[in-house]
Amino acid sequence: MPSASLPRAVFAMDPVHLPLLFPDPLMARLRRTAEIDTGFVVRDFSDHAATTALADIEVLITGWGCPRLEAGIAASAPRLRAVLHAAGSVRSLVGEALWERGVTVSSAVTGNAVPVAEYTLAMILLAGKDVFAHRERFRRTHAQPTPAETSATGNFGRRVGVIGASRVGRRLLELLRPHNFDVLLHDPYVDAAEAAELGAQSVSLDDLLLRSDIVSLHAPDIPDTRHMLDHARLALIRDGGVLINTSRGALVDHAALTDELVSGRLHAVLDVTDPEPLPADSPLYRLPNVFLTPHIAGSLGNELERLGRIVVEELERLADGLPLAHEVRHADLASMA
Ligand SMILES: NC(=O)c1ccc[n+]([C@@H]2O[C@H](COP(=O)([O-])OP(=O)(O)OC[C@H]3O[C@@H](n4cnc5c(N)ncnc54)[C@H](O)[C@@H]3O)[C@@H](O)[C@H]2O)c1
Repeated sequence: MPSASLPRAVFAMDPVHLPLLFPDPLMARLRRTAEIDTGFVVRDFSDHAATTALADIEVLITGWGCPRLEAGIAASAPRLRAVLHAAGSVRSLVGEALWERGVTVSSAVTGNAVPVAEYTLAMILLAGKDVFAHRERFRRTHAQPTPAETSATGNFGRRVGVIGASRVGRRLLELLRPHNFDVLLHDPYVDAAEAAELGAQSVSLDDLLLRSDIVSLHAPDIPDTRHMLDHARLALIRDGGVLINTSRGALVDHAALTDELVSGRLHAVLDVTDPEPLPADSPLYRLPNVFLTPHIAGSLGNELERLGRIVVEELERLADGLPLAHEVRHADLASMA
């Protein structure tokens, strides 16, 4: 039985995620750390059971599907001191009232960055090896490529442009290190010295687009970044260049991108689009130079347990009176995903 001194916690999310976020051994560890009814999950903060549960809780464990935490929650949960989010961004989750009350907010966003960076590394390697084009050609010809058809193939010395030293961007930069890439970075918050420490050369956005073979977008969707790749910027990418977008569709002008892809001048790997999903008649579903996936780069399946672990470790720190390792500061929200 949990002792009375353990923090009282409640889950608030779509319950479908619970078994993958907290498989049995992790759920048992959670029960040793908090006083929690692991069979109860809040879906709607206005229902009677939720209001009763909130009255004496100190910790909300949230996840995808949790309603926005507005002023009413601050009132119904007077002892609430921490929101631990077992998912990514908290921007649309935590309302001003909780920030103003000084509730500590922590997110597993760093854990969610891991599979996005892995997906991106995989796509960079496949694109650099020209695997997508070779597959299309093989389907048509059933023949080995000629030396002329492979002259531009390969990852040795390939130049990769990373836009955004975000959590995903930083993890990707680590994953790129063991390979023979030449890495450029554009991030207005990162200077040349820090970029060099991250294994990249700091450059302007235009310079990155002009010089990269493969451009990978990892900036957040904020007013500054909307359509940061517009018609003029896309035109800077070299003929045959590859654009990888695992960030958000809004960063790219999709009318201009579609023109570039229909013309065959550029190649793209798109995990996110604008709109999402694309209309059924979008040519991007069928173009041979576009590799389109349905927003799967973030945590799925067994990758959710990584997020659950981060939350349980945060809860253990909280119970021991230690500082949290994944706290989100309100002041940073403006430049965050
Ligand atoms: N495809 C998916 O499943 C998936 C999953 C997770 C995250 N994402 C997306 O990946 C992107 C990165 O996520 P994150 O959690 O690592 O972000 P993050 O919150 O860590 O990004 C913030 C950082 O981005 C950088 N940045 C801010 N403005 C910039 C600009 N104008 N140009 C370049 N860099 C800028 C700064 O370094 C800032 O600290 C986001 O767009 C996010 O929505 C997608």
